[in-house]
Amino acid sequence: MMENKEKNLSALETEKQYEYIQKCREYVQQKEKELGRTLKACVNTFGCQMNARDSEKLVGILEQIGYEITENEDCDFVIFNTCTVRENANTRVYGRLGQLKNYKKKNPHMMIALCGCMMQEPHVVEKIKNTYRHVDLIFGTHNIYKFAELIYNCLNSDRMIIDIWKDTDKIVEDLPSERKYSFKSGVNIMFGCNNFCSYCIVPYVRGRERSRNPKDIIREIETLVADGVREVMLLGQNVNSYGKNLEQPVTFAELLSEVEKIEGLERIRFMTPHPKDLSDELIDVMSRSEKICHHIHLPLQSGSTEILKKMNRRYTKEQYLSLVERIREKIPDVSLTTDIIVGFPGETEEDFLDTMDVVRKARYDSAYTFIYSKRTGTPAAVMENQIPEEVVKERFDRLLKEIQQISAEMTRKNVNKTMKVLVESLNEQDESLVTGRLSNNLLVHFKADVSLIGQIVDVYLKEAKGFYYIGERV
Ligand code: SAH
Ligand code: SF4
Ligand code: F3S
Repeated sequence: MMENKEKNLSALETEKQYEYIQKCREYVQQKEKELGRTLKACVNTFGCQMNARDSEKLVGILEQIGYEITENEDCDFVIFNTCTVRENANTRVYGRLGQLKNYKKKNPHMMIALCGCMMQEPHVVEKIKNTYRHVDLIFGTHNIYKFAELIYNCLNSDRMIIDIWKDTDKIVEDLPSERKYSFKSGVNIMFGCNNFCSYCIVPYVRGRERSRNPKDIIREIETLVADGVREVMLLGQNVNSYGKNLEQPVTFAELLSEVEKIEGLERIRFMTPHPKDLSDELIDVMSRSEKICHHIHLPLQSGSTEILKKMNRRYTKEQYLSLVERIREKIPDVSLTTDIIVGFPGETEEDFLDTMDVVRKARYDSAYTFIYSKRTGTPAAVMENQIPEEVVKERFDRLLKEIQQISAEMTRKNVNKTMKVLVESLNEQDESLVTGRLSNNLLVHFKADVSLIGQIVDVYLKEAKGFYYIGERV
């Protein structure tokens, strides 16, 4: 009963948004007549897959309104979908915003919108209001489904429109979205995060955890598959806690088993599992599955139990390593990747050596390493013993060297094997090559033409180059 009521509300909201799309379309058509040319919009995305998926929703709405999508920021409507996970993400946005000012001088009806995680921080919005007055629209992460309505409001106002919600319990289904790739797609299975790792801003800017109904997820994937999608990436900040708060709780492993049944779908990926919640049930489902890729991104963050505790990660070095062991035992050909933060407050040389130790024992196929970045409002930002830059840099370099060496060794293991590859694009440097992705997430470059894009083919791995391969089609 409750569920039905929510459903109707979501459907009503969707209907309302389609009405706004229509109203905006009338504006665009009229403006095009006036100018004698098409109107163009550019969406620039910073940050993670979550943001990339959100941008596809923004592009979907823009296309329905009638904008032509361009990569060029010198156009009629620029949208920055921002990230604030580390300080340098913010710096880049401010830099680019400054440049937009000149385009707007040339093209006064140009609109500029900012959305995404950075906009959920009050001090950022304050700064934009004061220093970047050429911005027309600011909205957050919880109300992107209202994009058409916000554009409409913007068209009818001379003032900067700001609409930011602190949090939401709402999930609006069935809005348009335009995929970047025809053959693969991200699929949100949940929004928000409840973990509050002490360094991380995400729970503050993405709100509390909300899971989508399994039925809505399955229906979305079925529609995607009917439209040519062969690979989906299930997205959430901690996919292992998927479904816990649904009226009829469902585990992530159960959801995966349902997704597996979808005919025509060939590959399933997911991002990100949290080590503290990764269940044996999930490992079992993965090991039995024909479709779930044998790749697990398992963020370590630190190898020191002491630091992990301060990070509020809720696992120890030993628990992490034993999890890795269990995974490797059940899924021998698994590819493991990770995220590591260097220089968390209070990190001693000994703590850092624990991280190096886990890296050597876990033997990652690849790893993203980050220098700790202080995020205002998080508990870690006010912890004592912030680590001096030179110490962090030195550790970072040592870690990177170790990781590169191990991933080169790991990559070499597959040389001379023939593996299935999903061809994704023409090679950027050499157009006689295409680039494809193995089930384990590594890239292969091999001779072929565009007609193969979107297909899954057998490729012989001739040579390993650090973290990618040169191959040959068989
Ligand atoms: N939910 C995912 C990741 C989200 S953010 C998870 O739990 O793994 C992606 C990565 O950014 C994190 O894994 C972490 O390594 C890094 N990160 C997050 N906050 C950071 C900070 N303040 N400084 C440096 N790196 C950070
Ligand atoms: Fe951030 Fe931790 Fe949530 Fe990941 S699980 S988004 S690192 S708080
Ligand atoms: Fe993603 Fe950055 Fe937001 S990593 S969730 S876009 S803060």
